[in-house]
Amino acid sequence: MSQEDGLKKVISHAKEYGFVFPSSEIYDGLSAAYDYGQLGSELKNNIKNYWWTAMVRMNDNIVGIDAAIFMHPKTWKASGHVDAFNDPLIDNKDSKKRYRADVLIEDHIAKIDKKIDKDVAKGLKRFGDSFNEAEFRATNTNVLRRQKTIDDINDRFKDAMNGENLDAVKALIEELEIVCPVSGSKNWTDVRQFNLMFNTELGAVSGDAGIIYLRPETAQGIFVNFLNVQKSGRMKLPFGIAQIGKAFRNEIIARQFIFRMREFEQMEMQFFVKPGTQAEWYEHWKAERKKWHASLGLGDENYRFHDHIKLAHYADAACDIEFNFPMGFKELEGVHSRTDFDLKSHEEHSGKKLRFFDPETKESFVPYVVETSIGLDRMFLAVLSNAYREEDLGEGNTRTVLKVPYALAPVKVAILPLVKKDGLPEKAEEILKILRINHNVQYDAKDGIGRRYRRQDAIGTPLCITIDHDSLEDNAVTVRERDGMTQERIAISDLASYVDARVSMATLFS
Ligand code: GAP
Repeated sequence: MSQEDGLKKVISHAKEYGFVFPSSEIYDGLSAAYDYGQLGSELKNNIKNYWWTAMVRMNDNIVGIDAAIFMHPKTWKASGHVDAFNDPLIDNKDSKKRYRADVLIEDHIAKIDKKIDKDVAKGLKRFGDSFNEAEFRATNTNVLRRQKTIDDINDRFKDAMNGENLDAVKALIEELEIVCPVSGSKNWTDVRQFNLMFNTELGAVSGDAGIIYLRPETAQGIFVNFLNVQKSGRMKLPFGIAQIGKAFRNEIIARQFIFRMREFEQMEMQFFVKPGTQAEWYEHWKAERKKWHASLGLGDENYRFHDHIKLAHYADAACDIEFNFPMGFKELEGVHSRTDFDLKSHEEHSGKKLRFFDPETKESFVPYVVETSIGLDRMFLAVLSNAYREEDLGEGNTRTVLKVPYALAPVKVAILPLVKKDGLPEKAEEILKILRINHNVQYDAKDGIGRRYRRQDAIGTPLCITIDHDSLEDNAVTVRERDGMTQERIAISDLASYVDARVSMATLFS
């Protein structure tokens, strides 16, 4: 299946089964805005819960907050977003399409990367079992030449951006002979900076004084509350503040389903540390976040770390955790060592001290910050796309199954009375009442049992419980498990603990 087909299938499955709908679809939708449906919101909540539990509950020194989306406009001056939260944009004069200049260059680099992959594949074919990929990449002249081209492009782009030389960015696009994917022409405008923040007006205040921004990241809500939380929670360094919430960016090109939207959700944690210890905490949080992802079992080979070439204005180290989405490896999460930039800048702009007093050394200082920042919608797409399978079961049978990690599945258990009579629905109701206290449970009595299994497979339900005539005699039921399709007879009295052991969030922590 091609990458494009893979994403298309996920999008159509997501819509058909109530995971994600285009926003305001009856009016033909709004570009890059999506609504989470009845199952999508369950899956999203489960991802949130897992993140929140891992961050806030499992760490004595991390607490969570929920700050307002609207913040004092000075916040965004202090954070640098008013002056520097820009994307370099370029228009193609023939197609009238607008692009991010950096994305055009990245796409060009990705094409060269693909050629390297082809060289490697040829090498493997030629040398067979004796093929040493690392050695081949380090010595093959074609690979080395292509890699040098990539490095040169990256260096020139980095220099141009750091020197705010947009003419040099345009010159690079022209020299690389990048064409517009729509018109096929090289007829480009100059490159301009475009601020990504949305703004609106505050109530009765008119003019510039009333301009208020929709937050482009949740992190600033944490920085401005650093002292409130530190004092009221009597927090000692190192400590963290976590938050989940909406963020808004006027993306020039929002595309690839819920991967890049203009309204999205972030799960961010700012970890405040003593100056000088940030490099150590940066490595710590990279490793912790890797563990969190690994515990979901989406496949270690589907993740890779990518160090930033161009550091943001506030960072002394930064990397992306990239995931193998249907469109290829793309950024899922960032880990950033943000120095004391934000707190210092808020001190300057607010005139308030944002310091930590160390009772041992009797010193007062501005802490450094290591941040972990993951897009909830991107995590949702990672889980959903990784889960989607079309399986051949042999003898002409197929099934579409969502192999979502059990603890994240939107519906954990389906309760299926074999027939709608003879007291089986009543027995099923009894079981439903017990299990729904701790889990999202669905009751389904329509159609044959095979069709009901397929419906549950398609939404990723880990366990199907069938109540048959024997259940009335032996007080036991048949539990069918999604992935292996194995069946087991379980006493009704043991069901609650049986289900907990398989689908509760505790399984992820073990
Ligand atoms: N506070 C740091 C910060 O916001 P970022 O790398 O700009 O850093 C963090 O964003 C994460 O937010 C990204 O790794 C991505 O998962 C998510 N994200 C950013 N822009 C997004 C968009 N337009 N749509 C969906 N998710 C987005």
